[in-house]
Amino acid sequence: MSALSELYQEIALCQQCELAKYRTKVVPGEGAEEADIMFIGEAPGWHEDQQGRPFVGPAGQYLDQLLASINLNRKQVYIANVIKCRPLGNRDPLPSEMLNCRKWLERQIGLIHPKMIVTLGRYSMAMFFPNKSISKIHGSAQKRDNVIYYAMYHPAAALHQQSLRRAIEEDMLKIPSLLAQAESVVETKQQPQQLTMFEV
Ligand code: URA
Repeated sequence: MSALSELYQEIALCQQCELAKYRTKVVPGEGAEEADIMFIGEAPGWHEDQQGRPFVGPAGQYLDQLLASINLNRKQVYIANVIKCRPLGNRDPLPSEMLNCRKWLERQIGLIHPKMIVTLGRYSMAMFFPNKSISKIHGSAQKRDNVIYYAMYHPAAALHQQSLRRAIEEDMLKIPSLLAQAESVVETKQQPQQLTMFEV
């Protein structure tokens, strides 16, 4: 069994907060264990809770379309959420829930070791870009410890708002060149403290 599958088993046993009482299935994440890109959403919704898989409802179908626009599918990337169990009524995650769940996401990142982490929506963005506003930083990237962090709007929000839809589609199209650029910037390994905001 892979380390990631073992981690899923641990996550499935988690009873650390109230959300565990109400979940149908825990939603740890899925995708390629060797993925270059990791997408991190907010929390499972109804469909995800039923299936135990991330982004399988309408927002997920839109995410699939966005991935297809850069010639990728969900099996070639890794998709996870900040919160592993559905908040009842699809309410926003509480800070305490985000804190409880953080260790799972950190371990996933450690095992997958992605070259690029793409945050989807405000809650995911807040973990990696504290005190930033999504309307200001979406579509720009930061390189830290040789990982590219890139903030995008949440597909569910973009699905229903034309201006966000244009933005998320444009932001997605920048990902391939950001990744290519990241690989050529080898020397940042020697400067792990350096934060660089850059746009393509
Ligand atoms: N929204 C999310 O943030 N994550 C999912 O898995 C589904 C919808």
